Amino acid sequence: MKSHAGCRVVRTGRYWVRDIRLASDGMRRIAWAEQRMPVMGVIRKRFEREKPLKGFRIAACLHVTKETATLVRALVSGGAEVSLCASNPLSTQDEVAAALVEEGVAVYAYRGMSESEYYECIGRALSVRPEITVDDGADLTVTVHKLAHGVQSPELESVQVGMGDERLDVEDIKGGTEETTTGVIRLRALEREGKLLYPIIAVNDSPTKSLFDNPLGTGQSTIDAIMRSTGMLLAGKRFVVFGYGRVGSGIAARARGMGAEVIVVEVDPVRALMAAMSGYRVMSSRDAAKIGDVFVTATGNINVIRREHVELMKDGAVLANAGHYDVEVSLKDLRAMAEVVEEIAPNVERFRMRDGRCLYLLAKGRLVNLVAAEGHPSEVMDLSFSLQALSVELLARERELLPSRVLDVPPEVDRAVAKLKLDSMGITIDEMTEEQLRYVTEWKLGTS
Ligand code: NAD
Ligand code: ADE
Repeated sequence: MKSHAGCRVVRTGRYWVRDIRLASDGMRRIAWAEQRMPVMGVIRKRFEREKPLKGFRIAACLHVTKETATLVRALVSGGAEVSLCASNPLSTQDEVAAALVEEGVAVYAYRGMSESEYYECIGRALSVRPEITVDDGADLTVTVHKLAHGVQSPELESVQVGMGDERLDVEDIKGGTEETTTGVIRLRALEREGKLLYPIIAVNDSPTKSLFDNPLGTGQSTIDAIMRSTGMLLAGKRFVVFGYGRVGSGIAARARGMGAEVIVVEVDPVRALMAAMSGYRVMSSRDAAKIGDVFVTATGNINVIRREHVELMKDGAVLANAGHYDVEVSLKDLRAMAEVVEEIAPNVERFRMRDGRCLYLLAKGRLVNLVAAEGHPSEVMDLSFSLQALSVELLARERELLPSRVLDVPPEVDRAVAKLKLDSMGITIDEMTEEQLRYVTEWKLGTS
């Protein structure tokens, strides 16, 4: 991804972005995405007519990409006032952030922010006193809950700096959405402790999201990121995928498509069996560490690649992470074991070990597909963000009726988005006959 990190960040009362002069580049990128997001187009036009979000204040914490811009523009078309901060310090597309500012959105996002700046930006986004939160990874929602429950946490100091004189009243917040697996896991943990204070729609868990975005989006964009940053040939390489879940299975499939010999490392026997019966080699992490050329983590778990693996890896091995947080490859172990660390190309760091081996870490261990490429293709985000837009509409409409739980996207919304996508692709599908409908809802009919 293009970096504008040389420019000084511009901070005004209404936005913090890298360079507002990038706005016209950003608009061109957004137009490209919008052309490939027909379902969002349909929703946006309806929102424009019906204004279902009129007067709503929405705080969103998302990867600031051209696809996110289409979602934000739809919410604004629906009548909402939107503030937007980044859900990762390195994933912001600075030209898109600038374009959204020109569209009247309060954007607090720039590529290459520090951790304290990241939380300051979350504070800025919250300073609009949102009624709905839209999140990817749950940092925004968890921040709201830490503030509301009086939990002490070091990052809250930065959040307060960002919020300035504004104070948050959690009673104002009617609901929220969550985009990714790791975010949903965190919010379910909050719910289990009885501490979730408003309803959250788990967009991630709906089939039209997780059967497409997680495998197809991450599968393609992870390979894209590895190729953009290293230019390496994948054919014939031993490509190790950690985690054969929705994301990992997609990465494995795409790596195989590039001619790599794919090896899977799992902890779940069912997922491991699925990988084995899909034709992949499955082995322990230590065995894989000895033979792999490329290692990609996609587990949502911590320290999946650590000292014991790094010790075994071959000279030249490439490491990347596609999971939500930069915790899957132990950066602490890598740094402790390295004699010299150098950035040898954008998004590629070389760790020269004391024994002379060199290992290469991509995107600083953050989600490689958004840092070293542009994230999921627009066509896939059309599904995820249509579900987001319709979930936000549902929260606005039913704000007093929903329980403070982690909720599913209603199946009819999920199917409606899939149907619109099929329509946009010119695909017609069958309907069951009356007889078939009766048959599949009947218990008496069996062997005849
Ligand atoms: P998932 O639950 O479907 O899959 C995770 C898999 O990892 C499971 O099969 C689990 O058994 C396995 N696993 C857990 N610990 C492991 C370990 N120590 N070693 C090996 N395997 C292990 O989750 P998912 O939907 O595939 O998401 C995975 C991660 O990717 C999450 O952090 C999610 O938020 C993130 N994500 C990233 C993107 C992106 O754009 N990069 C997109 C969607 C999801
Ligand atoms: N997550 C993965 N890909 C994305 C994209 N293109 N935009 C926003 N969030 C994403």
